[in-house]
Amino acid sequence: MLRALTFAVGVALATPLASASHLLQRQSTGNSSNSTYPGAVDPAAEPGAQSFQTSGPFYPSPWVNGQGDWADAYAKAKDFVSQLTLLEKVNLTTGVGWEGEQCVGQVGSIPRLGFRSLCMQDSPVGVRDTDYNSVFSSGQTVAATFDRGLFYARGNAMGAEHKAKGVTVQLGPVAGPLGRSPEGGRNWEGFSPDPYLTGVAIAETIKGIQDAGVIACAKHFIGNEQEHFRQTGEAQGYGFNITDSISSNIDDVTMHELYLWPFADAVRAGVGSIMCSYNQVNNSYSCQNSKVLNDLLKNELGFQGFVMSDWQAQHTGAASAVAGLDMTMPGDTVFSSGESFWGTNLTLAVLNGTIPEWRIDDMALRIMSAYFKVGLTLNEPPINFDSWTLDTYGPLHASVGANIQQVNFHVDVRGDHASVIRNIGARATVLLKNVNNALPLSKPKFVAVIGEDAGPNLWGPNGCSDRGCDNGTLGMAWGSGSANFPYLVTPDSALQSQALADGTRYESVLDNYATSQINALVSQADATAIVFVNADSGEGYISVDGNEGDRNNLTLWHSGDALIQNVSAICNNTIVVIHSTGPTLLTEWYDSPNITAILWAGVPGQESGNSITDVLYGKVNPAARTPFTWGPTRESYGTDLLYTPNNGNGAPQDDFTEGPFIDYRSFDAQNITPIYEFGFGLSYTTFEYSNLQVTKLNVSAYTPSSGMTEAAPVLGNFSTNLTDYLFPNSSFPYIRQYIYPYLNTTDEKQASADPNYGQTAAEFLPPHATDGSPQPLLPSGGAPGGNPQLYDVLYTVTATIKNNGTLNGEEVPQLYISLGGPNNPPLVLRGFERLSIDAGQSTTFTADILRRDLSNWDTVSQNWVITSYPKTVCVGPSSRNLPLSQSL
Ligand SMILES: *[C@@H]1O[C@H](CO)[C@@H](O)[C@H](O)[C@H]1NC(C)=O
Ligand SMILES: *[C@@H]1O[C@H](CO)[C@@H](O)[C@H](O)[C@H]1NC(C)=O
Ligand SMILES: *[C@@H]1O[C@H](CO)[C@@H](O)[C@H](O)[C@H]1NC(C)=O
Ligand SMILES: *[C@@H]1O[C@H](CO)[C@@H](O)[C@H](O)[C@H]1NC(C)=O
Ligand SMILES: *[C@@H]1O[C@H](CO)[C@@H](O)[C@H](O)[C@H]1NC(C)=O
Ligand SMILES: *[C@@H]1O[C@H](CO)[C@@H](O)[C@H](O)[C@H]1NC(C)=O
Ligand SMILES: *[C@@H]1O[C@H](CO)[C@@H](O)[C@H](O)[C@H]1NC(C)=O
Ligand SMILES: *[C@@H]1O[C@H](CO)[C@@H](O)[C@H](O)[C@H]1NC(C)=O
Ligand SMILES: *[C@@H]1O[C@H](CO)[C@@H](O)[C@H](O)[C@H]1NC(C)=O
Repeated sequence: MLRALTFAVGVALATPLASASHLLQRQSTGNSSNSTYPGAVDPAAEPGAQSFQTSGPFYPSPWVNGQGDWADAYAKAKDFVSQLTLLEKVNLTTGVGWEGEQCVGQVGSIPRLGFRSLCMQDSPVGVRDTDYNSVFSSGQTVAATFDRGLFYARGNAMGAEHKAKGVTVQLGPVAGPLGRSPEGGRNWEGFSPDPYLTGVAIAETIKGIQDAGVIACAKHFIGNEQEHFRQTGEAQGYGFNITDSISSNIDDVTMHELYLWPFADAVRAGVGSIMCSYNQVNNSYSCQNSKVLNDLLKNELGFQGFVMSDWQAQHTGAASAVAGLDMTMPGDTVFSSGESFWGTNLTLAVLNGTIPEWRIDDMALRIMSAYFKVGLTLNEPPINFDSWTLDTYGPLHASVGANIQQVNFHVDVRGDHASVIRNIGARATVLLKNVNNALPLSKPKFVAVIGEDAGPNLWGPNGCSDRGCDNGTLGMAWGSGSANFPYLVTPDSALQSQALADGTRYESVLDNYATSQINALVSQADATAIVFVNADSGEGYISVDGNEGDRNNLTLWHSGDALIQNVSAICNNTIVVIHSTGPTLLTEWYDSPNITAILWAGVPGQESGNSITDVLYGKVNPAARTPFTWGPTRESYGTDLLYTPNNGNGAPQDDFTEGPFIDYRSFDAQNITPIYEFGFGLSYTTFEYSNLQVTKLNVSAYTPSSGMTEAAPVLGNFSTNLTDYLFPNSSFPYIRQYIYPYLNTTDEKQASADPNYGQTAAEFLPPHATDGSPQPLLPSGGAPGGNPQLYDVLYTVTATIKNNGTLNGEEVPQLYISLGGPNNPPLVLRGFERLSIDAGQSTTFTADILRRDLSNWDTVSQNWVITSYPKTVCVGPSSRNLPLSQSL
């Protein structure tokens, strides 16, 4: 989601790449020009991503049925929705407009039943736009812990804070971007370019959030891999006149094996909502793409919750409804326009028969199923904060400055989460290099801390709106994925406290360009120099130092590389700490003998200084693993962003021609040696791997799901008398610009304000879009997460891990599989565990290999298959250090 300002985004009327009626257009009614673009290919039929490829149609939109562990929630939802009028159902689906209420997004309420509006609130690192909340580490940082317990603990603590503020849906966690290119501006909000790690992390985070009684929102679905060109208005703002958003062109195999993979885990974990993204997928907008929403998400993955649009990512009315969108955010077509594709238009579309009743019932059922699934009741406490001001009193409807009242109650929701955050920050810090016993520090004589990244932002930790600057230490990156710091412990302050306690001499120079002062300090006898550097990125609506969300390069900011080189030329005990939103190029200096240690501390949140101090002084023995590859050059990654439109004024074509070969899969396939490989990380102790055992389990053969669904349920009748849909009466407290479900006149065309009003479904909706009859089940579907047999355990793997050093520690054994096919990555991660092992002790690493872990997506049968290529399983401490292996 994004913030107000800058969006003079018009709703363009023509999409240049229309291929057929299923490629729904941007008009509210979904009119299609029905011209086939020359050279269009069906991605299911042709391997590899290609420009202008199109997205196949899939209708009707699957309706929920309470499968999996959704039965209770579904039953409650059915009871509730059966009591609703059409206007009330429309209210559940449609946001009230930008800044219409207190949260970053809210739908209408149902006053007749005393049901308050659902509150949608950022972010994936804490409650955004309020006070007395905590700021957690980024998703990418916690990914480095490789620790299921910490994934869950973080999610649960964040969920509890959202709950206590009155939030209904926390807008996170993130698996899109996955991290196709290291420059991707929002990669830090997600977890890792490895889909298996991201899948485990997103699932545990979702369970944590939802166990706290808040609906999680897995986002951004799907192919949202870069910031550039995600929105036309934004692109025009930085000088590119494009008329449509970028299209991520992804082939069917890559979609399943890479980008969809973690979303399957999210659905299997019971996620209540999914946010569709700004970009197009194969030249159809994500929020009206029937292939991705109806087919992949709702049919194949059996998703039982609701799809909400990213803020202003909806481009059509009826067309998006039949393509699988269930909730529009923030409700207006363009921020503050007072117009909506839904609201009044959705009421009319149901009344005039364009959208069948079962579809709006299904939207409401999905929203309420998610609501009851996480234990929300019909009597939730009120929202106690306001996103648009931190003042105690302010307008309830900031959009128009109306209804001044108390809007902020400044509720302190932090609990004891500081300790969780500090622990995660330390357990996520990756020790990349450690020679000459440089670390851990033990009462060093003299510590010299160097670099702006060790110190405060002189404007305060929240001094830049949505953290849109890189001043001081990088505790959080920028965009809607941010939150206000309650405080930010800087490395300088925490390290100084430690030094004072130890009787260590301590000096810091926080200006990267104070070269003579720095040189004078670090050249002194007995100096342990700790140099802090960073690289930042964020969301595309803010530009920092010319970076439009995405990073322009992979080097350090504020001349960090030169700073490290200057210090290490003078001081033979130089320790480097990197805070960043992804890999940076270490090539020029990492192997200098004077650089005795290198640590990656990610984007750690409010306890930053305490966490790094715990690791540097050995209070926490590091065990984190880098969740991405550190390559020697930018080119070595094999994927890059599109920084310049490549299709004239039309939608930029971003062809994911590398297929599943991103990050380590690309380095392995190209045989390029990285500086530090995926999964790598050191400890202050050492471990030995032995005794690999692979046990085959007896499981029944894979059976494709078959049979038919029930017919779509229809819940109650509705009047077709238009007078029943007018604004209630003249005393109704109408708010300007607010989005309502009502009509302002019984003249339909006038009420819709759409000059094209009057087209029938048959005229502009694709075949089967309104068909509520029983539908065939997909072979690969059948339950939340896909065919349940995909999760059968086929093998159990064990290995013995011994701590053969002298310190107690933790170790992250990893299991990789070679699937053996000519188009498969050499190795894919398929298991890991973080184990605590005392010095001299051994423990057993255990991992299950699921059917899914051994399968490839088959485009012909449209199902997962285990190929006959030989499969090998390997276990070791990183993706390139795998001492144990065995063929299956
Ligand atoms: C698209 O155009 C073709 C050729 O004119 C026509 O056969 C087809 O029915 C049209 N499709 C729709 C959905 O209008
Ligand atoms: C209905 O949708 C159209 C865009 O398709 C928009 O122009 C119109 O303002 C909408 N009507 C209302 C009442 O919001
Ligand atoms: C729809 O929601 C709005 C905003 O909360 C509310 O004022 C209105 O009464 C609701 N309408 C119905 C029919 O419940
Ligand atoms: C942007 O491109 C469109 C389509 O080519 C054109 O109509 C419009 O005038 C252009 N706008 C600007 C500001 O150049
Ligand atoms: C029905 O309502 C929708 C939404 O306003 C509109 O787009 C469509 O043209 C209408 N169709 C008919 C047949 O009135
Ligand atoms: C903070 O960052 C902004 C934007 O990058 C910059 O213009 C400003 O000088 C910085 N302020 C301080 C005090 O460092
Ligand atoms: C990379 O980007 C950063 C941040 O904008 C900038 O400070 C740095 O100079 C750039 N590096 C190069 C080599 O251009
Ligand atoms: C290492 O540091 C010493 C000073 O301690 C310096 O003389 C030497 O040149 C440095 N070596 C390198 C490779 O920078
Ligand atoms: C670093 O240099 C000092 C002298 O300045 C020397 O005593 C020490 O042994 C050197 N350390 C290493 C690791 O080379």
